Amino acid sequence: MWGGRFAAGPDAIMEAINASIGFDKRLASQDIAGSRAHALMLAQQGIITDSDAQAIREGLLTVLSEIEAGEFVYSTALEDIHMNVESRLKEIIGEPAGRLHTARSRNDQVATDFKLWTRDQMDAAVSGLEALIRALMAQAEKGADWVMPGFTHLQTAQPVTWGHHMMAYVEMFGRDMSRFKDARTRMNESPLGSAALAGTGFPIDRHMTAEALGFDRPTANSLDAVADRDFGLEFLSCASITAMHLSRFAEELVIWSSAQFRFVALSDRFSTGSSIMPQKKNPDAAELIRAKVGRIFGANVALMMVMKGLPLAYSKDMQEDKEQVFDAADNLMLALAAMTGMVSDMNANTDNLRAAAASGFSTATDLADWLVREAGLPFRDAHHVTGALVAMAEKKGCDLPDLSLEEMTSVHEAITEGVYDVLTVENSVASRTSYGGTAPSQVRAQIARWKEVLG
Ligand code: ARG
Repeated sequence: MWGGRFAAGPDAIMEAINASIGFDKRLASQDIAGSRAHALMLAQQGIITDSDAQAIREGLLTVLSEIEAGEFVYSTALEDIHMNVESRLKEIIGEPAGRLHTARSRNDQVATDFKLWTRDQMDAAVSGLEALIRALMAQAEKGADWVMPGFTHLQTAQPVTWGHHMMAYVEMFGRDMSRFKDARTRMNESPLGSAALAGTGFPIDRHMTAEALGFDRPTANSLDAVADRDFGLEFLSCASITAMHLSRFAEELVIWSSAQFRFVALSDRFSTGSSIMPQKKNPDAAELIRAKVGRIFGANVALMMVMKGLPLAYSKDMQEDKEQVFDAADNLMLALAAMTGMVSDMNANTDNLRAAAASGFSTATDLADWLVREAGLPFRDAHHVTGALVAMAEKKGCDLPDLSLEEMTSVHEAITEGVYDVLTVENSVASRTSYGGTAPSQVRAQIARWKEVLG
C-alpha cells in the first residue's frame, strides 16, 4: 500500500511491532461503514464515477459478509484492518478499489472507525447501567422499609432502610449514565475528510459523510481531528468512575455475604465453591467486579500516558489506544452484567439486618434529638447526656431501650416514658423524613422520581 519509495520490505520484527490487525479487526464493520459513506460522497461530488462507487460499495458488503462468516483471511503484512479490507476489495472488484482512498488518509479513517466503535460502547454502557439501576430499584421497592444498620467508618452509625441503601447506588450509577451520555454528545463529530492532517483539495462534502454515519457534524479542525483521542479517554474515565462504584458495591456484597454479617445470601448462580472446603460459598463474582477497576483505571492511565507529549498531528503511538479501550469496554460490560445478575438474585436476610441495626446504640442520635425536642436541651448538652446513657448501658451490657426510666432520670431528670418511642429502629428510620432521607416515605419518593426519569 505504501511500497512505492521502498526497495526492501520490512524486517519481521518491524512487521510485528507495526501491525495492529491482531486487535483492530474489531473495527471491521465500522471501517466498512465509513468507506461506504466516503465512496458515496465521492461519487455525489463527481470525484469518482457512480459506477465505481457502486462497485466499491457492493464489494465492501461482500467483504463484510466474508468477515462475518469467519471466512476472511487477515494478513499481518497488510498491517491493519483498513489495508486488509481495501486489499480484499481490490481482489474482488479490481481497479475501482484503488479510487476509494481518494481524499482520505488512514489517519482520518482510523479516527472515524474508532469513534464509531467507542460511540457504540458508550450506548452499551448506558443500557448496562440502566439494567443495573432497574435491578437496584426492584430491591429498593421490596425493602423500602426493611431496617438495617447504616455505617460510617464501618462502625454502626444510625439505622437506615434497605431501600435507601439501594437507592444510594441508583444515584451513583445514574450519574455514571449521565456522564456516558454527556461524553457521547461531545464526541459525536466526524473526523472523516480531515485526510492526513491538512484536509484535502478535492471538493468533498464532509457534512454528507458525517450525517451518513450518524454524527452531528464534521469536526471543525482537521489537525485536531486526526490527533484527538479525547473520546477514548472520556470513555475510559467514565468507565473508571463506574468501575469504582461497582467496586464499592462489590466490597459491600463481599462483607454482607460473610458468615459474620449474613446480611444477604447471594444466589448459587453467582457464587462458587471451594475445592477443599465443602461448606464454602464464595462471592467470586463480587470479588472480580471489585478488581475490574484496576484494569479499567489502568487503561485510562495508560492511554493518558500514550497521548501526553505527542506533538500534532497523528503519531503511530496512537495505535496503542485501541487495546486499552477494547479491554476496558469488555470488562466494564461484563462487570455490569454480573452485578445486575447478582443484585437481581440476592436475598436480604431481614432478621439479621434488623438485629444488626438495633445493636451498637444505633438510636443514640434519636435519644439526643428527643432531649432537644421534648426537654428543650441545647443539642450539645443533649449529646453529652446521651453519651453518659450509652456509657451506662455499655457498662451494664445492655442496649439503650433496656435502661429503666429510673436509670435514665438519674442522668437527666427531664427524661420521661415517651423517650422509649424513639429508641426503636423502626421509629428511628420513620422519623427521618427530610428530603432524601432514609424514611420509607422518602425512599418511595426516590423510587418514584427514578421511575419517571427512566420512563
Ligand atoms: N493502524 C493505525 C492505527 O491504528 C492506522 C493509522 C495509520 N496511519 C499511519 N499514518 N500510519 O493508528
